[in-house]
Amino acid sequence: GSGLNKLAQAAGKKYFGTATDNSELTDTAYTAILDNIVEFGQLTAANSMKWDATEPTRGTFTFSSGDQIANLAKANGQLLRGHNCVWYNQLPSWVSNGQFTAADLTTVIQNHCGTLVGHYKGQVYSWDVINEPFNDDGTWRTDVFYNTLGTSYVEIALNAARAADPNAKLYINDYNIEQTGAKATAMLNLVKSLKSSGVPIDGVGFQCHFIVGEVPTSFQSVLEQFTAAGVEVAITELDIRMPTPASQANLQQQQKDYQSVVQACMNVEGCVGITLWDFTDKYSWVPSTFSGQGAACPWDQNLVKKPAYSGIVAAL
Ligand code: G3I
Repeated sequence: GSGLNKLAQAAGKKYFGTATDNSELTDTAYTAILDNIVEFGQLTAANSMKWDATEPTRGTFTFSSGDQIANLAKANGQLLRGHNCVWYNQLPSWVSNGQFTAADLTTVIQNHCGTLVGHYKGQVYSWDVINEPFNDDGTWRTDVFYNTLGTSYVEIALNAARAADPNAKLYINDYNIEQTGAKATAMLNLVKSLKSSGVPIDGVGFQCHFIVGEVPTSFQSVLEQFTAAGVEVAITELDIRMPTPASQANLQQQQKDYQSVVQACMNVEGCVGITLWDFTDKYSWVPSTFSGQGAACPWDQNLVKKPAYSGIVAAL
């Protein structure tokens, strides 16, 4: 039959994919769906390519968990998104608590991004080189990178990634940039500034961690503003949460919401693909972060498709 990736590709998209995590891969009912290229044509490692997982102590790299996801994607014939090089969260303490000079931190970023991206050279369609650089009001997040290097950390990381894998698409990825406003404007201005300075930037990732009934109406026009600036765009971490236990009314609304989000990407030629932030409520990050909320994915706790799945199919 037809699945999400098959439909997305038939409609001209590069992939329909999902995040997954290493601890989930022993669940054979889960992997039977995950591994199905008809359903998913792309994987993202939800945790195992992050800085704390890949360089827990300075200069010592551990790729075994990341490799497990990369090798699975390869075995399944799926594309891989790399997630991520530079982010304020899930940093090992030697980075987050480090007292670095600007020169020292520059070397640290170059070595991390260069080694990480280089390790997966030729295996990754796109890398989230920079993750979540902005606060919701559009100001820069004052993490160790910004505090030490100002905005220059962005080009340091992008240049290191480009050198390490010239064929990987280099992205900046964030949330709450899906609607017009200060944060989307800040991201658009950053992209324009990087492009005018010749810094390598190929794409912007829209995470799309939405709330049922609150999908922003300006999403498609925001996507168009970015493609007009000369970058591709992608939906990188889609889920749509609701109060739990889920009501029938909210499950119906969620179906409409999934359809409208996917439709926005379908309507924009430069929107290359869509990634769920895991496909089943069984493994969603939402309930552990937002107490009393969940049911955010298109498959339920028992790996049964919800109305949301039909909403995605309708858009594809
Ligand atoms: O690995 C440890 C384990 O050893 C320990 O026993 C356990 C106890 O809490 O924690 C485990 O680490 C957890 C890790 O996921 C792996 O399961 C962390 O506590 C937990 O905080 C971490 O959550 C991840 C979260 O990023 C951290 O910010 C989620 O799985 C992951 O889905 C989520 O993904 C992020 C994207 O990277 C960026 N955008 C937002 C998105 C959702 O928060």
